[in-house]
Amino acid sequence: MRLLEGQKLTSAENVKKDQLAFWNGQGGEIWVARQSHTDMTLEPVSKALLSFANPGLGEHVLDVGCGCGATTLDFAEAVGPEGRIVGLDISQSMLTEGERRARLRDLNNIKWITADASEADLEGYDLLASTFGLMFFGEPVGAFAHMRRFANPGARMAFVCWRNLDANPWMKVPMDAVRPHLPPRPTGTPNAPGMFGFADPDYISHVLTEAGWSAPQIERLDVDLDIAAGGGLNAALTQTTQIGAVNSWLRGQPGDVVDAATESISKALTPYVERETVKLAAGMWLVGSTP
Ligand SMILES: C[S@@+](CC[C@H](N)C(=O)[O-])C[C@H]1O[C@@H](n2cnc3c(N)ncnc32)[C@H](O)[C@@H]1O
Repeated sequence: MRLLEGQKLTSAENVKKDQLAFWNGQGGEIWVARQSHTDMTLEPVSKALLSFANPGLGEHVLDVGCGCGATTLDFAEAVGPEGRIVGLDISQSMLTEGERRARLRDLNNIKWITADASEADLEGYDLLASTFGLMFFGEPVGAFAHMRRFANPGARMAFVCWRNLDANPWMKVPMDAVRPHLPPRPTGTPNAPGMFGFADPDYISHVLTEAGWSAPQIERLDVDLDIAAGGGLNAALTQTTQIGAVNSWLRGQPGDVVDAATESISKALTPYVERETVKLAAGMWLVGSTP
């Protein structure tokens, strides 16, 4: 985007620019590298969304913010060869990985589209679904209003998003272990775009209804996530330090700080080790609505 002298990007435009850069840069690379581990950890979530969204044979489904296709592939199987699914994402590298994984599973009913959901030119879907892909819009009401155009008459939307950090010990325990090793960090702004952008159910209802969607059905989803993906404590430590908040906090820190923080995470996670699993509680919302 070219700006005139003295002109500033609005904050929504800044968010869009930052998200595009992050998911096409370091963020996307990390997700591609860690996807098979992440898929195993998040398998209970994918299953819960699939059952909540209940895709029918032959339906046309749009997976918004599909990333490397964790749920796209499951939806593609669920709708069968007569069904059609589109994985939509702003990250080219993640979509390329999704396409590769679809070939491995011999799934031929998926199309991958690189576009921003808040402005993509799409239509004809029976189901709009998303796993953790709808919390990153700089202007959520505008984005959700735009996405209503994607829906067929009688269509539905079903997505999953995180509740707050206190409801998510799988993240909070490692983050609390790392905090004492780093300078104090600013506390996050409620409802700001990001992982916890839809933690408040009243805010979700506000965004959806302002955007013209029906008052949403919002259900709690509580599961234990194996952050080791069956690989034991060391695998849990690798995953925790290589993706997500802890990874971004530790990036660029001196080696001795990283080592001490990793040791603290190891101590904090040890009580959760059971054989080769490291399971901690996770809290999410399953959200359903109609256009
Ligand atoms: C946390 S990842 C989740 C990926 C995938 N759904 C999964 O569960 O593995 C969030 C995804 O949303 C995508 N995303 C963020 N903003 C987007 C936008 N405005 N339009 C489309 N995709 C977006 C990112 O590129 C990223 O792939």
